[in-house]
Amino acid sequence: MPVRAEFEKYRPLLNRLTAASADIGAGDGQRVWNIYVPARRPVSQRIVDRLTNQGIACPPLDPIDTFQARFYNFCRAGLKADPGFLAAAGLDLKLPPPNIHMISRGSGVFLDINNADFLIEACEDSGFAMTPGLDILDFGGSTGRTVCNLAYGLPQIRWHCCDPSPVSIAWGRESHPEVNFFISNQNPPLERDDDSLDGILAKSVWTHFSPSASRLWLAELSRVVRPGGFLALTAHGPHDVARRIVYGNPSPDYSLLAKAPRMGKRGLLDRIFNRPETPSDKRGKVEYGFLDMLVAEVSRAGHFFSPYSTLEWQGDIRDAENADTSHWGLTFFTQQWFKTHLEPTPWRIAGYHIGRTGHRQDIYVLRNGKLER
Ligand SMILES: C[S@@+](CC[C@H](N)C(=O)[O-])C[C@H]1O[C@@H](n2cnc3c(N)ncnc32)[C@H](O)[C@@H]1O
Repeated sequence: MPVRAEFEKYRPLLNRLTAASADIGAGDGQRVWNIYVPARRPVSQRIVDRLTNQGIACPPLDPIDTFQARFYNFCRAGLKADPGFLAAAGLDLKLPPPNIHMISRGSGVFLDINNADFLIEACEDSGFAMTPGLDILDFGGSTGRTVCNLAYGLPQIRWHCCDPSPVSIAWGRESHPEVNFFISNQNPPLERDDDSLDGILAKSVWTHFSPSASRLWLAELSRVVRPGGFLALTAHGPHDVARRIVYGNPSPDYSLLAKAPRMGKRGLLDRIFNRPETPSDKRGKVEYGFLDMLVAEVSRAGHFFSPYSTLEWQGDIRDAENADTSHWGLTFFTQQWFKTHLEPTPWRIAGYHIGRTGHRQDIYVLRNGKLER
């Protein structure tokens, strides 16, 4: 397997991970180097159609792999000339102010096209058609960068978005009345009736839950989703670990872990700093140590969770009422671990799509097997 030169020192980690898990890319390991692109673009296609029908000349979808970049450039250029670009056509590209949460605000536009396509493609490929009149919730949807694109592309569906951050929800509600925004708590219950939803999307939420928070929310979400409905969630799996090793992607400064006391519980930092074979400079040492420990845990237990030490560690839940990080941190799991974890719940895996969102996270599409009342 080729490894970028500066990551050659991590090759033993990659070999250990690959030996322990087939769930890297398509199982052949090579896909770690490929960037997946949405195959059909079910959301983008409809966004372009809707704009085109209003006389707006959009970049063509073909070639499909470069569409997101070309569409973002088109929007950025348009915004430069006119801050209200596309707003009259119903696509509001305005970002939340800097103090309000949004991932990837660096793009400069309120868009999340690839992820919207990936999520809907995964649902459709797992047998869940986006038929008119469905009620679908974006759980942990923040200010709504994904759900707002979904609502524009698939307006025949009633879209809902919840998040524990009241500030994010207030901005979403005010800026995007086409989506039903509401506040959820960090812990169940969710203020929804039994069987009131057809499906739920949860992007980059199970990447942070502890096993017990995951269990509580799986039970609660199976209550509010009708029998046979779906939950499509994204997770860090072996593919994501491999990308961290091979590309340093994402590239968090793992040395920050040293400043996170709770991350350091259970001897983690001792184990990291005491490894004799780690590179000598401090940053490299911590980085290697963290990845080494991650590979060991994911290979041994199929799971890794470490809570964030403070609310500032990642600002997502800073504004939530009584926010607490005991069950919110950094989470990785394998498909095998998740299958066992799901056994006591009504959820079963209907589709597993490796390395999709952000070119890193796996998408699990779960079917609610609870009995009709
Ligand atoms: C990494 S962000 C992802 C946001 C959004 N889904 C996206 O992809 O842009 C995680 C989100 O989960 C929310 N969150 C935190 N704790 C949660 C909980 N217990 N239940 C639901 N969402 C939660 C955070 O407020 C934040 O908006």
